[in-house]
Amino acid sequence: MHIPVLLNEVLKYLNPRAGENFIDATVGDGGHSAAILKKTAPDGKLLAIDRDEESLMRARVNLEKFSGRAVFANDSFGNILAIARGSGIEPVNGILFDFGMSTSQLEDSGRGFSFRKDEILDMRYDEKNSLTAEDIVNEYGEADLEKIFKEFGEERKSRAVAGAIVEARKRSRIKTTGELAAIIGKIIRRRGRIDPATKIFQALRIETNGELAEIEKALADVPEVLAAGGRAAFISFHSLEDRLIKNWSKKSAEEKNIKILNKKPITASAEEIKDNPKSRSAKLRVIEKI
Ligand SMILES: C[S@@+](CC[C@H](N)C(=O)[O-])C[C@H]1O[C@@H](n2cnc3c(N)ncnc32)[C@H](O)[C@@H]1O
Repeated sequence: MHIPVLLNEVLKYLNPRAGENFIDATVGDGGHSAAILKKTAPDGKLLAIDRDEESLMRARVNLEKFSGRAVFANDSFGNILAIARGSGIEPVNGILFDFGMSTSQLEDSGRGFSFRKDEILDMRYDEKNSLTAEDIVNEYGEADLEKIFKEFGEERKSRAVAGAIVEARKRSRIKTTGELAAIIGKIIRRRGRIDPATKIFQALRIETNGELAEIEKALADVPEVLAAGGRAAFISFHSLEDRLIKNWSKKSAEEKNIKILNKKPITASAEEIKDNPKSRSAKLRVIEKI
């Protein structure tokens, strides 16, 4: 089960009240959504979006007790404007984005998100998309692999890893996370607790799902989806995501579309990090529609 990150901070900033409507753009297991729905009782609605059908199924079960106040959409938040309009939920008082993957996906999906398990190299959130991590690893040219690892993984040894992958796949197609992790392990030495495959796996996941492009699409529509005075909260887990939010917020604030509520990103308390180590890299930024 996924533990919602920065939950108290999200509730403080989004400040859900009785009868208000929210969008959870990345519902996952529904942890944040359940807390929001409790606060918006008796009749506030919540539009729950997730690109992953299995996540959405878990959220449906976990949010069942809110008797019809949650509406579900299996889609990408890149289409947030159309999804919100189609749902008929209005006005929208707040939106939450909690990027990346959930613990449930990492540990139980069998889709190759984790380098700690030997699984098929899939990494798609949405299995209706055709591009898999296996396609990328076996079919992208060496220069493209290097570029992805550098840009999306910020991995210093991108060139060497790309070269090793191209060599290995000449012998046979790389099909599992275990095979890929072994190739990476020969190039990048373990430093402390961080696994050498971390950044390369992050890069592949971002490329497989077009993650940054989906965030950019959503950001362009956030001000239009929100009612005046409505807030959007963004939880990022790596610098590429956080930079997109930071730069977009700055530009939108200059254009007087939104107001930035916290200049510095909010991070997890020592206590939360102790209970849930995944929260260590989380950064929360919140804006308000003017
Ligand atoms: C960190 S988890 C969310 C966890 C959730 N806040 C909770 O408390 O259970 C992120 C979720 O976002 C979903 N996701 C990733 N990219 C998405 C996108 N472009 N559109 C919609 N959902 C997406 C993933 O499938 C995953 O379920």
